[in-house]
Amino acid sequence: MITPRLKCIIENTNGKRIADIGTDHAYIPIYLIENKLSDYVIASDIRKGPAKIAVSNISEHNLSDKIEVRIGGGLSVLKENEADTIIIAGMGGQLISEIIDADIQLAKKCRLILQPMNAQYELRKYLIKNGFTITNEDIAVEGFKVYNILNAENGHQSKFETDIEYHLPKYLINHKYYNQLYEKKHREFSKVIHGLENSKHTDTKKLQLYKNWLKELENYESK
Ligand SMILES: C[S@@+](CC[C@H](N)C(=O)[O-])C[C@H]1O[C@@H](n2cnc3c(N)ncnc32)[C@H](O)[C@@H]1O
Repeated sequence: MITPRLKCIIENTNGKRIADIGTDHAYIPIYLIENKLSDYVIASDIRKGPAKIAVSNISEHNLSDKIEVRIGGGLSVLKENEADTIIIAGMGGQLISEIIDADIQLAKKCRLILQPMNAQYELRKYLIKNGFTITNEDIAVEGFKVYNILNAENGHQSKFETDIEYHLPKYLINHKYYNQLYEKKHREFSKVIHGLENSKHTDTKKLQLYKNWLKELENYESK
């Protein structure tokens, strides 16, 4: 089933040979091939259970000759030049950074489509610090859920001018879902601040950091 989040990932994907790392159900590879958006997809998962489901879904769609399922962690399933585009979606931002970092030279030869479920701030920091440039970003919305989709590739990107931009990059300001993302960040910061203020052993450093972020966010250029 192609949800708005998956659709947005697909719309950002443009490649002949794609690797979908952590494919689970293989919905993305199936859609890419059925809609002739790609010639061949390597669909991988670290766990046997999801890989088995992927194999079964792919064979139901008669696409076993176009989608190859591999079992293994991160980019270790890929040989150099096998894929021009790598999708890593539906995982935490920290795990996505670790997957890239473990095979960074291979990752730098591909276009990366990344959809972190959390820690977007840390992922943007990781990418810019480690020689990637974020070439585009998109936002998907499903009910109250707001997702970021990052396109990255080898290249130099200047650091963002302010720390808050790692949470909410300025280039997203004209996106149709910018306000939803802004509200999400506002809710997130306010919730952490509320929790810390009501905790018996307040982490004062963390509290100050979140208060600063909230202030920066509220002073942020609005649409
Ligand atoms: C929540 S699912 C996301 C599925 C799909 N990518 C999506 O966006 O809907 C995450 C999948 O990633 C797999 N996974 C977790 N860590 C992984 C790793 N290091 N390498 C490959 N797959 C991994 C899990 O087994 C799981 O099937």
